[in-house]
Amino acid sequence: MRQPSAAAIERSFDKMSGQYDRGIQLLERYLLGEIRGWATGEATGEVLEIAVGTGLNLPLYGDKATHIIGIDLSEGMLDVARERVAAEGLQRVELRQGDVERLDLRDESVDTVVSTLTFCTIPDPEQASREAFRVLRPGGRIVVAEHGPAANGLVRAMMRAVDPLAVRFGHDHLMRVPGPYLEAAGFMIEDARRGGAFDVVHKLVARKP
Ligand SMILES: C[S@@+](CC[C@H](N)C(=O)[O-])C[C@H]1O[C@@H](n2cnc3c(N)ncnc32)[C@H](O)[C@@H]1O
Repeated sequence: MRQPSAAAIERSFDKMSGQYDRGIQLLERYLLGEIRGWATGEATGEVLEIAVGTGLNLPLYGDKATHIIGIDLSEGMLDVARERVAAEGLQRVELRQGDVERLDLRDESVDTVVSTLTFCTIPDPEQASREAFRVLRPGGRIVVAEHGPAANGLVRAMMRAVDPLAVRFGHDHLMRVPGPYLEAAGFMIEDARRGGAFDVVHKLVARKP
C-alpha cells in the first residue's frame, strides 16, 4: 500500500488540528478507553513524547517525569499543544517541530519515550522505533499505546476491509501491530496488554537492553 508522505500528513493534521481533541476524545470514550493516564504514569526522568499532537498527554505527567520534549510534524497540532501548555501553566515541557523518523536529539539522551496513537500515522514506524532506540539511554523504556487489529475475528476482518480507506483519507493505518516494530529496532518487550472495546488497543512497555 502506498504510504502518505510526511508533507501530506503535516498538511492533513494542520487542517484538522482545531477539531482533533473533540474527535479523539469521543473515540477514547467509546472505543479506545483509558490510555493516557497509563502511558504517562510509566514515564520517568527525561521524557521524549513522539508525535505529541495537541499535547493531550502533557497535563497528565507526574513528578517522576522531570522534563518532557514533545515533537510533531504539524505546526497546527503544536499550536494547540502550546495553548494547552500556557493555559495549564505546565513548566517542564518543551515543544519542537520535527520528524520523529529523524530525531534532532543526541544518542542516549532520554530515559523514556512515550507514544500514544502515533504508529498508525507515522509513515515508517520501524524507522521511528529505531530513532527512539537510538536516543534512549541503555535501560531506558518506550511506552506505547496504539490502536491496532481487534482480538475479535469479525471486527478484525471489518477493520482490514476499511483499512485502505482509512489510510487514504485519514492517514490512519488500522492494522499495524506495534510489537514487531519495537523488536526489530532492538527493544525487549517487558509488558504487553490489550484494552478498549474488542481489545483494539495494544499497550506495550519495552526496554533498550
Ligand atoms: C493521531 S495523532 C496522535 C497525536 C497524539 N500522540 C495523541 O495521542 O493524541 C498522530 C500525530 O502524529 C504526527 N506525525 C505523524 N508522522 C510524524 C512524523 N514522522 N514525525 C512527527 N510527527 C508525526 C501527526 O502530525 C499527528 O499529530
